[in-house]
Amino acid sequence: MARPKIALIGAGQIGGTLAHLAAIKELGDIVLFDISDGVPQGKALDIAESGPSEKFDAHLKGTTSYEDIAGADVCIVTAGVPRKPGMSRDDLLGINLKVMKSVGEGIAAHAPDAFVICITNPLDAMVWALREFSGLPHQKVVGMAGVLDSARFRHFLSLEFDVSMRDVTAFVLGGHGDTMVPLARYSTVAGIPLPDLVKMGWTTQDKLDEIIQRTRDGGAEIVGLLKTGSAFYAPATSAIEMAESYLKDQRRLLPCAAWCDGEFGLKGMYVGVPTIIGANGIEKVVDIKLGKDEQAMFDKSVDAVKGLVDACKGIDDSLS
Ligand code: APR
Repeated sequence: MARPKIALIGAGQIGGTLAHLAAIKELGDIVLFDISDGVPQGKALDIAESGPSEKFDAHLKGTTSYEDIAGADVCIVTAGVPRKPGMSRDDLLGINLKVMKSVGEGIAAHAPDAFVICITNPLDAMVWALREFSGLPHQKVVGMAGVLDSARFRHFLSLEFDVSMRDVTAFVLGGHGDTMVPLARYSTVAGIPLPDLVKMGWTTQDKLDEIIQRTRDGGAEIVGLLKTGSAFYAPATSAIEMAESYLKDQRRLLPCAAWCDGEFGLKGMYVGVPTIIGANGIEKVVDIKLGKDEQAMFDKSVDAVKGLVDACKGIDDSLS
């Protein structure tokens, strides 16, 4: 049986890391696409040359031509510009919206059956625009945010409790931005919910609040340290987890920016919610009941995403 084909649209920091991870994990053959001639070809060759040591057989190809993504099973989109210090994800909107138009058209023309994972920011608005421009089914177009946000939350919690990250689970909902909603009562250490751990004296509510804020600011913390770009190792790893769930029909329950039409009381919009990813893409949005305070935080996040989508419609008439 032929290996699956994975197209990476954008061969920058995240795109290159995605290619390396996908090759090491033998998820399939990889095409790196970028508009910057030489970059995708150079990265593809460099990663291919790590094959003998890593012992993978995946083929890698770098290209500036959309024809080369033909028939891709998965497309992961990082094309666009990343943040610089002092910029919010939302500041990227105008530039990256134009990029989503060309990428959406490229995917529609050459890989209309792919499962598409968008990483480009501002995430919730860009995944919506990418779906609109590509015209692909909603369950095949999804945004990567919640897996990364909850990985950051899990990492910070493991430091606080001094336990393995493997035993920490976390739940983050809402938009990928300052209004994201980390849900403490659904986040656990080996099944013990965080509020119980506060009662047991393992941590304090103040410390928990600090960790939640650090999670919300997780992307900005890295931008502030790097100064010339934004996070790429953990974002790439998170998207690979989603791609693997699709390619291997794992039916992982992962938080993603997914299309909600009825779920969570929403009428047709993309926002971060728990989903099941299997062979058909987003197989299900898991519609959990929120408490009063959680609902208020979620509503605020939803409003922020709606504001960004409206801004997109204001920039590009074809989206209205
Ligand atoms: N088509 C294809 N590639 C494009 C296009 C386009 N229209 N426009 C820009 N690119 C390419 C750039 O040439 C660059 O190689 O996208 C790549 C982006 O890579 P980086 O600048 O290294 O950015 P990266 O850190 O990978 O982040 C990409 O993901 O997390 C988000 O906020 C981040 O929006 C940013 C995106």
